[in-house]
Amino acid sequence: MSASGGLVANQNLSRADTITDRVISSFEGCDSDRLTEIMKSLTRHLHEFAKEVSLTTQEWMAGIDFLMATGKISSDKRNEFILLSDLLGLSSLQVAINERVGDATESTVLGPFFVEGAREFSNGEDISDGANGEPTFVSIKVVDTSGAAIGDVTVDVWGSDADGFYDVQYDGDKLFNRGRFKSDEQGRVSFWSILPVAYPVPSDGPGGALLKATKRSNMRPAHLHFALTKEGYSQVVTHLFVAGDPFLGNDAVFGERESLICEFTKVAGDIGSSDPRRRDEHYEIEHVFKMAQI
Ligand SMILES: [Fe+2]
Repeated sequence: MSASGGLVANQNLSRADTITDRVISSFEGCDSDRLTEIMKSLTRHLHEFAKEVSLTTQEWMAGIDFLMATGKISSDKRNEFILLSDLLGLSSLQVAINERVGDATESTVLGPFFVEGAREFSNGEDISDGANGEPTFVSIKVVDTSGAAIGDVTVDVWGSDADGFYDVQYDGDKLFNRGRFKSDEQGRVSFWSILPVAYPVPSDGPGGALLKATKRSNMRPAHLHFALTKEGYSQVVTHLFVAGDPFLGNDAVFGERESLICEFTKVAGDIGSSDPRRRDEHYEIEHVFKMAQI
């Protein structure tokens, strides 16, 4: 190659569009077609983003620092990356593009507060474990898409206390208002919990800083989390939202689904009830979850 030819080649190496093409080509040796597809597309969109906003060095470094801080504040009890994914609507989008199976219950975001290995409870027990809040009796039934009951479904449930905080947001290892059940032969799971309240997403990390800097709401409408799992069925990871909540339609993580808004009904106390919790005013909710076979 001549000296002038080398110079032309070097100029091409530094051109923005040439850099993108070279990075995309660098994935050609990958053995996995899917990984190749993902990395090529990610590169294309990431480079387009940088070009579209003419990303400055200071802004690029601010992004690096932001991701560093996201990693540093994350732990086995707090996943700030999931919160970022939620706040940017990626979690909700990812759920939406993985099509709902038949008329199975709609899924929504997992959120950052799921904990693996929650305590196991039996039907009728109280998972609130002393958490502050209005007593609420939750009664659910799990059926398949033909309406037949499904037994032995693992049902994880978790929610905040009346102050809007999850157990894992407090110091110490105490868990509350979270539990794991197995549906009985009639597909039923029932338990005492507390009335969900609207709450702000955590504001003490990069996710909160992003919302503050962009003047976005940090509130989530009141909801209780569920994850239903059984081999042979498509997993349902979802919420039940409290009808009438003022933040419905303005969820900080874009997780609301019309089909998941439910009535949590206030019930007067029955002084003759054998269950002391039913003698006082409380809330009740019933809901049927549908799972699709795969
Ligand atoms: Fe939540």
